[in-house]
Amino acid sequence: MDTRTLLTTDLAALIHPLHHPADHQAPVVFVSGQGAVLRDADGHEYLDGLSSLWNVNAGHGRTELAEAAAAQMRNLAFASAYTGYTNPPAIRLAERLLRVAYPNLSGVYFTTAGAESNETAFKIVRYFWRRQGRPGKTKVISRIHGYHGVTMAAMSATGIPSFHTMFQPVVPGFTHVVPSYPYRYPGSGAAALEEAIMREGPDTVAAFIAEPVIGAGGVIPPTPDYFPAVREICDRHHVLFIADEIITGFGRTGRWFALDHWGVQPDLVTFAKGVTSAYLPLGGVMVSRRVHEAIVQAPMSERFMHAATYSGHPTCCAVGLANLDIFEREQLVERGAAMGARLQQKAQSLRPLPIVGDVRGLGLMCGIELVADKATKAPALQVGGKILGEARRRGLITRIRTGQAGAHPIGDTICLAPPLVVSEAQIDRMIEILRESITAVA
Ligand SMILES: Cc1ncc(COP(=O)(O)O)c(C=O)c1O
Repeated sequence: MDTRTLLTTDLAALIHPLHHPADHQAPVVFVSGQGAVLRDADGHEYLDGLSSLWNVNAGHGRTELAEAAAAQMRNLAFASAYTGYTNPPAIRLAERLLRVAYPNLSGVYFTTAGAESNETAFKIVRYFWRRQGRPGKTKVISRIHGYHGVTMAAMSATGIPSFHTMFQPVVPGFTHVVPSYPYRYPGSGAAALEEAIMREGPDTVAAFIAEPVIGAGGVIPPTPDYFPAVREICDRHHVLFIADEIITGFGRTGRWFALDHWGVQPDLVTFAKGVTSAYLPLGGVMVSRRVHEAIVQAPMSERFMHAATYSGHPTCCAVGLANLDIFEREQLVERGAAMGARLQQKAQSLRPLPIVGDVRGLGLMCGIELVADKATKAPALQVGGKILGEARRRGLITRIRTGQAGAHPIGDTICLAPPLVVSEAQIDRMIEILRESITAVA
């Protein structure tokens, strides 16, 4: 099919994530990529400002990941990993992940996506409390502006109202609290968690879930005291702490996993995206020794009846292993830290622009929040999309958090999270393109 036929067929047949035809009249048809650069069907090149969907951490064009997949497929593309069966890539990847993750973690369950990882974590925390003889602990507290995916329970944990509007009602037992968001909320924010636990009743709360740095919700890093306080509050009220590291894992913030910045260890970690640098779908949940024991020491009548066909998929796990080889060989986590420092420093130069309210981030995650009025911080709405259009014309593709007014305002926020292999020159170019694009629209 030529490009025109592809596009007509797309409009006729394909339903896209977040679909709306008004936003899909001239979609970019991506055909290839190399490093931090994407190419479209017309031969145009773009800097990949968001590692596509915060996931192509090792960059595009890694033929060795294709080879790892092909080699595994030739031997054994797939086999059941249901209890009683297993395969070498799944075993080796589980062992390898536990080596780079928090030291209190001891078990891994594999999924194939971020939302499925969070759904699994919500079931594991229910399971854990039932195994402890506390079946009343089922509620999950999450955060306003947090993004945890959009399957039913994950959507209910997601704290961005536009994802709920047409899919009400949300699952019962999900409550949201304000996050640590220094630009808009004073204080560290951890007190809001404790208030919610007390309001709901500690005997009913199973878990608190948070992204170490809010990603799709507008790149919002916490104050340094926030997660240590969260850990202490969770411990005191017997609430499990789930770290959603689906974006922040695998070097994105300059560490393997981001809570490491604040010396905090969660009870569960959900991951996806960077584990394979997006070459194949893979995700999972890592659990602490205590949670792991609840599963492996259960009587038959209380066995862990959770499953998915593709849990432990050998080909996806083989690609995960090859991806970790690249990380180690090229020291991509360290590289993420170095390029992250460059990104944070360069991005600050956008602060003086008229509609820029806040510039924030950690490592290779950066958010540029737009405001209608710098003094009142009134959110700028419906300008982010125009800026994305200008940026795209200048050779940069990225995404925005669409802003909102109301009780929890946030301006349209331009997000940047390039691949860990991005060069200094490419970072500088991204910031220059954004400077021109913001100026053109402002
Ligand atoms: C922090 C976080 N959690 C969960 C998800 C959901 O992952 P998926 O889209 O693979 O279901 C995402 C996706 O962007 C995410 O950023």
